Amino acid sequence: MVNPGLIFDLDGVITDTAEYHYRGWKQLADDEGLPFTREDNEALRGVSRRESLNLLLKGKQIPEETAQEWMTRKNNYYKAYLEDITPADLLPGARSFLEAAINAGAKIGLASASRNAKTVLACLQITNMFDVIGDGYAVQNTKPAPDLFVWVAGGFQLPVTRCIVFEDAEAGVTAALRAGMKCVGIGPHERVGQAHLVCDGLHDVSLEQIMALETA
Ligand code: BG6
Ligand code: MG
Repeated sequence: MVNPGLIFDLDGVITDTAEYHYRGWKQLADDEGLPFTREDNEALRGVSRRESLNLLLKGKQIPEETAQEWMTRKNNYYKAYLEDITPADLLPGARSFLEAAINAGAKIGLASASRNAKTVLACLQITNMFDVIGDGYAVQNTKPAPDLFVWVAGGFQLPVTRCIVFEDAEAGVTAALRAGMKCVGIGPHERVGQAHLVCDGLHDVSLEQIMALETA
């Protein structure tokens, strides 16, 4: 039988760029005199740049031209932080888990809402570990829509039932389940408890556990 496909979210699964996204939005919020806290930032986890801006605005209306300028400004702040990312920023267990999965013959995919995902992979020096890379440009409907995961499965040429997703965001877990895939949730039960298996990170699961999920 053909080996399964493993699909990884990026931020919070392979590396932790959530802090940099927070600092980028915080700088923008401070520039514009908008209240924005770390607690507010939790709701932005895994959602698109546009939806993040909507959440930051908390209902405040701004012209489209201003929205575009604000998103560009936040992205420029974020990109400046990315310059500091190195392979040392891989989360614990990420490299060894990916290596074990590749050695076992699994297909490896990325499914990230970020338009900066390819830059982050390059900074981490892991681009060539991936067979298929789905980023913020791949599909129109972002998580919790299932589209990005289905797009990656198509790239693998595997049915969705042969794919297992690793996600740290509630919206990402919902998207994986809607795609008809098995899902490993990374983080607290309150956030990812809908997943088939919940753990603290890639250091906390074995490939055997994951492969067993496929037939569970
Ligand atoms: C996701 C992050 O991976 O990408 C979100 O978890 C972010 O916080 C989203 O908003 C979009 O990222 P970018 O880099 O395209 O603004
Ligand atoms: Mg994430």
